[in-house]
Amino acid sequence: MKTFRIKRAVVKSFGLAAALFIATAQWIPTAALAQGMMGGMMHNPDVKLVQEQGEYRPLRIPAILAPDEASGSTRHYTLTMDEGQTVFREGTQTATLGYNGSFLGPTIMLNRGEDIRVTLRNQMSEETTVHWHGLLVPSQADGGPHQVIDPGKDREVAFNVKQEAATLWYHPHTMGKTAEQVYYGLAGFLLINDNSELSKDLPADYGVDDVPLAVQDRSFTRDMQLDYPGAYNPDGTLGETLLANGTIRAAFDATTELLRLRLLNGSNARIYNFRLSSGSTFVQIASDGGLLNEPVEMASLRLTPGERAEIVVSLQGMVAGEHVDLMTDDAPVLRLNVARGLRSNASVPAVLNHLPAADDNGAVDRRFVLFGMSTMASINGGVFDMHRVDEKGTPNRDEVWEVYNSPDMMGGMTHNFHLHGTQFRVLTRDGALPPPNERGWKDTVALDAAEDVRFLVRFWDEGLFMYHCHILEHEDNGMMGQIEITAQ
Ligand code: C2O
Ligand code: CU
Ligand code: CU
Repeated sequence: MKTFRIKRAVVKSFGLAAALFIATAQWIPTAALAQGMMGGMMHNPDVKLVQEQGEYRPLRIPAILAPDEASGSTRHYTLTMDEGQTVFREGTQTATLGYNGSFLGPTIMLNRGEDIRVTLRNQMSEETTVHWHGLLVPSQADGGPHQVIDPGKDREVAFNVKQEAATLWYHPHTMGKTAEQVYYGLAGFLLINDNSELSKDLPADYGVDDVPLAVQDRSFTRDMQLDYPGAYNPDGTLGETLLANGTIRAAFDATTELLRLRLLNGSNARIYNFRLSSGSTFVQIASDGGLLNEPVEMASLRLTPGERAEIVVSLQGMVAGEHVDLMTDDAPVLRLNVARGLRSNASVPAVLNHLPAADDNGAVDRRFVLFGMSTMASINGGVFDMHRVDEKGTPNRDEVWEVYNSPDMMGGMTHNFHLHGTQFRVLTRDGALPPPNERGWKDTVALDAAEDVRFLVRFWDEGLFMYHCHILEHEDNGMMGQIEITAQ
C-alpha cells in the first residue's frame, strides 16, 4: 500500500504542470511526447467511474453486417469508416467515428471454413487501418500499422476463416493513432460460428439470449464531446463514464433463463472486474479464442483491454419486475431486467471443447520484458519501429514465449501482451498453472507488475505480425514489436 500513496503524491505534483502544459500546447505528437515525459512517473491517476442517475436506456445491439453479394463461394462485405454524430444523452450530439454508422460498428458474423472478402472504405479525413483482433489471418490481411488506408481510399482484404467459434473484434491499428481512433468510436465485434459450437445447447439467439457487450469508458466534456487530447494520459486514458455498446446507463430486457454475454473490454486502458450485484456466480464458457474445455464458475472476472470472455448468467427463479446488475467494481455496467416470465432456453453442457493439454517441454524460445513508464513504454528495451524487424520465426512450429512485466521504480503497473495472427495457450503464470479460465485459447494476456507468463504459440502464415501491450496509449507510445515469419 505504501507504493500506492507515493503514486498519488506524484500524480498531484505532476498534475498541475501537465494541465498547464496541455492548456498551452497544440495537439501535435511532440506535445504528447513532452507531456508524457513530464508525467513520466504518473502512471494511471485514479479516474473513478461515476454513478449515472436517471432513466435507463435500452442497450444498443449492433446490427449484424449483411454481405454485399456472394461471388461464387466467397462472401463479400463492405465496412466504411466515417465521421458522424452520436446521441449518448438525449438532446446532445457528440462528434464520433464509426464503421457503417456513427459509433462502433456492425457485428461481422462468419462461419468457420468460409472464404471472405472485405472492402474497407475510408471516408474519414485521416488515415486508418482495420485490424482483426484474434483472427488467424495472413499478414497482408491483418490490418497492422503497415496496411494504411488513406482518406477517400479503399482496400480489399481476403481470408479464409480457419479457426473455431470465438468472439473476436476489429479496430484500427494506425501508427501512433490507434488509441485516439478507438476512443472516438472505431471498434466492432467479429463473431465466428462453427458446427461444433452450434450443435451445443448454448444460448445462440443474437441480441435475445446471446448478447455482445463492448464495455468502454469515456470522458465527456461539459458539452458532451469526446476530447481525446484533453483526457489523454500516456499510461492509459481513462474516462468516468461507462458505455455498454455505446449506451450510457444501459438496461437489457431479459426474456430467457440463461443469458450469454460476449464481453469485450474495448477500453483504451481501464481494467474491469465483472461481477453480479446479487453476489451470484456465473459461468465463463469462452476465453479470447474460443470455448473453454468446460465451464468455469466465477464470482468475478477480470478483463484487461482487448480481452474477451463469454459468460452465461442464470436468471432462473427471478420473476417479472426483478433485476440484477452486471457490475464492474462499484459501477453498474448493464441492468438486466426481467420484464416478464422467463422462458427456458438453453443449457450449458459440462463439456464445451476438446483442447489438448498445452504441452510444456520447459524450453523457452523467446523472452520479452515489458517495461512501462508512459512514453518510455517498451518491450525488450526497444520502442516500436515500423522499419525494424524484432524477431524472426517460421510457420507451423510450436514455440514457447515467456513475457515478464518488469517493475519500475514506482512499483510498476499492470500491462498485457497481445499477439497478432494467432491464438496461444498459457502454460504458466508465475511458474504455476494458469487459473482454469485462462486454459483455453488466448490472444491477450494480463501481467501484473513482476508477473511472468509463459505460453505456447504457433504461427500459421508467413509475414509480419505485431505483438504489443493493449493499453492503447502504450501501444501508440511504442510498447510494440514485430515478428517476421518466413518459411525456410
Ligand atoms: Cu487489438 Cu494489435 O490489437
Ligand atoms: Cu490484434
Ligand atoms: Cu502497457
